[in-house]
Amino acid sequence: MIKKVTTRTIRGWKSGDHKISVLTAYDATFAKLLDGAGVDIILVGDSAGNVISGYETTIPVTMDQMVTYIANVKRGISRTFLVGDLPFGSYQSSIEQGVDNAVRLMKEGGAEAVKLEGGIRVAPLVEQLTDSGIPVMGHLGFTPQSVNQFGSYRTRATSEEAADKLLKDAKALEDAGAFALVLEKIPANLAKVVTDTVGIPTIGIGAGVHCDGQVLVLYDMLGLYEDINPRFVRHYAELAGTVRDAVTKYIEDIQSGSFPSDEESY
Ligand code: KIV
Repeated sequence: MIKKVTTRTIRGWKSGDHKISVLTAYDATFAKLLDGAGVDIILVGDSAGNVISGYETTIPVTMDQMVTYIANVKRGISRTFLVGDLPFGSYQSSIEQGVDNAVRLMKEGGAEAVKLEGGIRVAPLVEQLTDSGIPVMGHLGFTPQSVNQFGSYRTRATSEEAADKLLKDAKALEDAGAFALVLEKIPANLAKVVTDTVGIPTIGIGAGVHCDGQVLVLYDMLGLYEDINPRFVRHYAELAGTVRDAVTKYIEDIQSGSFPSDEESY
């Protein structure tokens, strides 16, 4: 197994057979499990707003929260590459604001790269970040921070015009220096065109099998988060039921007096 995943490793995977595995995490315990299992990249996503904080959207997530989650994950990993999301409002005002906040995610959180949403509009920021030594992962298609602008959770870039725009956005991000690109909830054939066109790895979520890698939100794929269940999420476990059963049994054992036993007492 590769010792430590870096941007160089990730770029190299564009041309080989290796498909890139990405999962989100927000705490050291899960991060350690993911790192040990061999996941290539951990994304500390602002999906934390949904699955950790219980917000309906990612919009309320703050820089302080992201720094805390990233630092949590950092303490749990050794091999995996660590990407931190720039939350809504942390890079929209100016290039300076984006650079200052990306620096915080790296210096205070320990992120090795940042992710931000958008295409041509954010390309100047991506260029400034990469010139400053901050690797950037782009994010196109359904971009949750713009949910109010979209007005829906529908699949993105389904018209020819929107597909052309997405392809131009992808090229702009690559030209600006992004090292990888998340494609969320777009048609699989468009994701294939983007993947074949750009020279950086594409990481799909609801974007079909042709991407260079895949990402899922950890709490979704473990069957822990029950509020939404998009069709692109495959459940690799059903932990919500497991947790409920365990807690029910715990309550019963306390009521019956079978917990704690003599062996569990001092
Ligand atoms: O916030 C997040 O977890 C993400 C992934 C779903 C790509 O952006």
